[in-house]
Amino acid sequence: MPAIVIVGAQWGDEGKGKATDLLSSRLDYVVKFNGGNNAGHTVVIGDEKYALHLLPSGILTPGVVPVISNGVVVDIEVLFEELDALTARGLDVSKLVVSANAHVIASYHRTIDKVTERFLGKRQIGTTGRGIGPAYADKINRVGIRIQDLFDENILRQKVEGALHQKNHLLVKVYNRRAILVNEVVAELLSYAERLRPMVADTSLLLHQALEAGKTVLFEGGQATMLDVDHGTYPFVTSSSATAGGAATGSGIGPARLERIIGIVKAYTTRVGSGPFPTELFDENGDFLRETGHEFGTTTGRPRRVGWYDAPIARYAARINGITDFVLTKLDILTGLPTIPVCVAYNVDGVRFDELPVNQSDFHHATPIYEEFPGWTEDITGARTFDDLPKNAQDYVIALEGMSGSRISAIGVGPARDAIVVRHDLIGG
Ligand code: IMP
Repeated sequence: MPAIVIVGAQWGDEGKGKATDLLSSRLDYVVKFNGGNNAGHTVVIGDEKYALHLLPSGILTPGVVPVISNGVVVDIEVLFEELDALTARGLDVSKLVVSANAHVIASYHRTIDKVTERFLGKRQIGTTGRGIGPAYADKINRVGIRIQDLFDENILRQKVEGALHQKNHLLVKVYNRRAILVNEVVAELLSYAERLRPMVADTSLLLHQALEAGKTVLFEGGQATMLDVDHGTYPFVTSSSATAGGAATGSGIGPARLERIIGIVKAYTTRVGSGPFPTELFDENGDFLRETGHEFGTTTGRPRRVGWYDAPIARYAARINGITDFVLTKLDILTGLPTIPVCVAYNVDGVRFDELPVNQSDFHHATPIYEEFPGWTEDITGARTFDDLPKNAQDYVIALEGMSGSRISAIGVGPARDAIVVRHDLIGG
């Protein structure tokens, strides 16, 4: 039955958790299909608030089977830390399943992530430093370590030797660091094997059987469209497929199975790390959005760059992912602004672009063409139906819907879990 994908439509941190929460009681499986512990969602359990980076958010919902599929890169130490933290808070994490084909982030990937960023200087990507890029680079370069390799010491040793052969030359001769010892890496990875073993399975088969049996499966994309390695603002992207297509390759499920593609889009825009961002604000409006929206990174604590809503980006995301429904988040953050500018197109050296320029350099110096919408002052956090919203807020949403390439099916209106206005059912409607 339904396979649903959730993807970020901007540069991440759109509040995907809100949509997942909304659906959670109707889900049987939640699958993380890309990225690693570079993601971050803040979770509130009782009075306690903490951040999850690697585990799919489905781990929090009783009855849901959380799955880490083949497209993910797994830092096993972080995996165990997060599982321990949840267990200490009384959660049952025993249902987690991890793909035998997922790749492992080893200590040398973290080292290389940090030294390469330092070496890039002004051209740095602003990565999270978690070893994500180097782990995916090894995967594509065919010198990666997969979860299943941990269960065969001989194979593991051969693969670690292969992975370190070139890297040690690079670390010692170029970056002036000490060489990494094969024995140390093998010993560390082997030390995880026994605890990991019961969690490991053929997740592609598992998900296929679940769908055949009529279960509801949610594929939860990490990062976002504009950070996708193919479709984002390359090279200022993450190293995985964060768009809807990634749900198929990253989990081993046929693309035709994916029925509903939900794009999460914030009522304004944020980004962490380097790279182009046409609507970025450097004035008091930027400070207002950052402070009011608590726009500080969950993973790194960095202040997020902020800007107005960018309709060409939403349209692009709708096209690249085949978005069937948008969830518009954080509309309440705009409350109190006298007028709200929305970017409707770009000006590139005097030429109007209604869609994203294909040439990256053009995008780097694109300036937004804005249309202004009247704001509202009423508190909207208690709104639960579209009619509860003030007229100007309704008009803002309808205007965004008209320019963003798909219907807006739900609207986040506050930090509370139930602070959401649903216009169309995200599973059936
Ligand atoms: P990496 O994923 O650590 O390699 O970082 C590459 C780029 O993606 C950097 O600009 C990061 O700030 C950004 N990034 C990675 N994960 C997230 C996320 O979950 N939210 C927002 N930005 C992210």
